[in-house]
Amino acid sequence: MSIRVIERIRAMQAWADEVRREGKRIGLVPTMGCLHEGHLSLIRLARERTDGVVVSIFVNPTQFGPGEDFEKYPRTFERDQELVEQAGGEVIFTPNVEEMYPPGFCTAVQVDKLTEGLCGASRPGHFRGVTTVVAKLLCAVKPHVAVFGQKDFQQAVVIRRMVRDLNLNVEIVIAPIVREADGLAISSRNAYLSPSERRVARVLFQSLEKARERVRAGEREASGIISAMKAEIEAKPMARIDYIEMVDAETIEPATRVEGRVLVALAVWIGKTRLIDNVVLEKK
Ligand code: PAF
Repeated sequence: MSIRVIERIRAMQAWADEVRREGKRIGLVPTMGCLHEGHLSLIRLARERTDGVVVSIFVNPTQFGPGEDFEKYPRTFERDQELVEQAGGEVIFTPNVEEMYPPGFCTAVQVDKLTEGLCGASRPGHFRGVTTVVAKLLCAVKPHVAVFGQKDFQQAVVIRRMVRDLNLNVEIVIAPIVREADGLAISSRNAYLSPSERRVARVLFQSLEKARERVRAGEREASGIISAMKAEIEAKPMARIDYIEMVDAETIEPATRVEGRVLVALAVWIGKTRLIDNVVLEKK
């Protein structure tokens, strides 16, 4: 059976109502397309937990800042369609910009505090765009479960908080990061890297591994761990650090020591491409 492609919100809601009437559970994997193994792992996880998986493909203009890569963001619909089908998705929901943001649209969902640091500081307005579009996708698809990747850890935590604060009836699942053989986290933006940049990009994972090793060896101070990571990355002339930070994994507030669950997160420019990655470390 070939996959169903739905472009209109009303049609998406009608499908969801029908599936819910049959007593089946719906999974949602929100994406901006250009699917890769990371997305496919989210689809498979959603399949395990539900009866039918909807993959949304929408390059959301409101989460891109001026001068960011909205225009050049890769759009590969036909290939994406094949991949969703192979991974066992049932529906692709792919509205256009006018459908999602019709003339006169003037509502936004804003999560405060959790969006102030890390990518929120480097990309003002980004999370407001993300939470607004995800809220709309949840209203369109009416899923029981929505799956997000840990690579965008702050995004997942922000969405979880939005769901909690607005009492939305959906479970948010965070799936592990999928990596290339050399450790680079799989991302649609890896496609922008030249072969030499691609070789340098593995330094992100190497520096996170360095943090993990230091914590394993007993180091607790964020300053020492972050300095070691910075030195590793700064040794690569093609790499420019946007941020490297240790924060509490629930509140995203700066952490000075590894205590409880902390997130070590980084954003690094490799040439003109900004890549992010992270690791969660835990010490009781
Ligand atoms: O992570 C992404 O690809 C996007 O931020 C999302 C969640 C699909 C919202 O546009």
